[in-house]
Amino acid sequence: MSGFPSTGQSRASINASLADARSRDLKADGRAFAFIYDAGGETRELARETYSACMSINGLDPTAYPSARTLELGLVGACLELMRASEGAVGTATAGGTESVMLAVKAARDHAKKARPELLRPKMLLPVTAHACFHKAAHYLGVEIVPVAVDATFRASLEDLRSQWTDDVILVVGSAPSYAHGVVDPIEGMAQLAREHGALMHVDACVGGLVLPFLRDLGMPVPAFDFRVEGVTSMSLDLHKYGFAPKGSSMLLMRDRALRDAQYYACATWTGYTIVNSTTLGSKSLAAAGAALAVISHLGRDGYVRLARAMWEATALLVAAVKARPELRLLAEPDMNLFAFTTTDGDLFELADRLAECGWHVQPTYGYGPSPAHIHLTIDPTNAPNAAEFARDLESCLVGLPARMEPPQEVVAMLALLGDEANGAALEPAMLMASLGIKDGVLPARAAAIHRILDAASPSLREQLMVLFIGELFA
Ligand SMILES: Cc1ncc(COP(=O)(O)O)c(C=O)c1O
Repeated sequence: MSGFPSTGQSRASINASLADARSRDLKADGRAFAFIYDAGGETRELARETYSACMSINGLDPTAYPSARTLELGLVGACLELMRASEGAVGTATAGGTESVMLAVKAARDHAKKARPELLRPKMLLPVTAHACFHKAAHYLGVEIVPVAVDATFRASLEDLRSQWTDDVILVVGSAPSYAHGVVDPIEGMAQLAREHGALMHVDACVGGLVLPFLRDLGMPVPAFDFRVEGVTSMSLDLHKYGFAPKGSSMLLMRDRALRDAQYYACATWTGYTIVNSTTLGSKSLAAAGAALAVISHLGRDGYVRLARAMWEATALLVAAVKARPELRLLAEPDMNLFAFTTTDGDLFELADRLAECGWHVQPTYGYGPSPAHIHLTIDPTNAPNAAEFARDLESCLVGLPARMEPPQEVVAMLALLGDEANGAALEPAMLMASLGIKDGVLPARAAAIHRILDAASPSLREQLMVLFIGELFA
């Protein structure tokens, strides 16, 4: 690790160091089936230009930076129309899906606090397939999670939702769609239940908000998920995913202004300027939001429809390829262009390594609850043209795939010490990383052995190991 530079360096040498640091990053080269949401070509260039043009806009004070207001209102207007909101609906530009979700939960909590001050520990009904950021929000905000089971298609079970209802539920969450399986929850039924009980309903359309409306334009049977559904009170949608904007851009939409007032935070009890923040940040860059609005203006509805068609066609091809192989099992028919599949008895993590050796980046995902360990694929405009090549490689990777393997028992025994208060401290993180073949924060080319261990670990041990791993990366 280098310290603070004693003398300034040239622009050229700084740019060269940056290029070197970035050389091993995942690229939008059409080989990645996770992380990348890129419309490519001119759209990417426009995003780069407008990001840098908006770099110095500070959303902390929209009266000092009127452009912050113009850009944010432009984005909010576009997203409200897309989510078919009615008069009186409002929105906020946020830094990402997690922030949108945390603010939605904060608004629900503070809204309930006003209406029902007697509630000490408000509850949120959350399907087990909802994104982990709702757990993070609950953890930060003192809201209790009541997990809701899913049916065989990985959609929230209305029956379980109904049976879990108690008086202190303030919020119901549905996904449109869930990240792992790409399926939309039964939003209409969930919202109806929320309405019957006077609770709020948040639809997390972080991954689907900028795709589902365009699939509907193409005539696909998209389940109801937006503000047209009575009882949906807030929605999140990420512009830095299928909006094709740079990272740092999401939207939180509210059916009415009273709910958004509960999202705001104001403070005048200090000696400096009075703050009123719509988001968790104080000083707030508008760079990603500015670029997001530029991308939306450039692509327009017809541009998004064109990209949605290409992504859906690639998804249909890949889903068919998975269904054609008895060694594979599709976990659920997806409602849009992301899905999960597993192996019937071959070793899933060996399959992921083989795909990596063919130059593909996929997302191996561990089992939890009703969802077995699987490979997740996210289809975007860059990888969609390569779907047929991926399907051919997938087929060849299945040849001679060994049966499911268990992690080495001695490693499992060693890791179990982590969960043991008395002996856990004896585990030396650097040694553990070295024993797993992790060097300079980079996983070994063949990572199946590590994935098998993490998959076998309990969720709480898995969390501890991840904290240890990331802590070690930044030690
Ligand atoms: C459905 C859903 N919600 C929320 C999030 C969290 O978004 P972010 O990573 O931008 O914080 C994601 C991210 O993948 C997601 O897929």
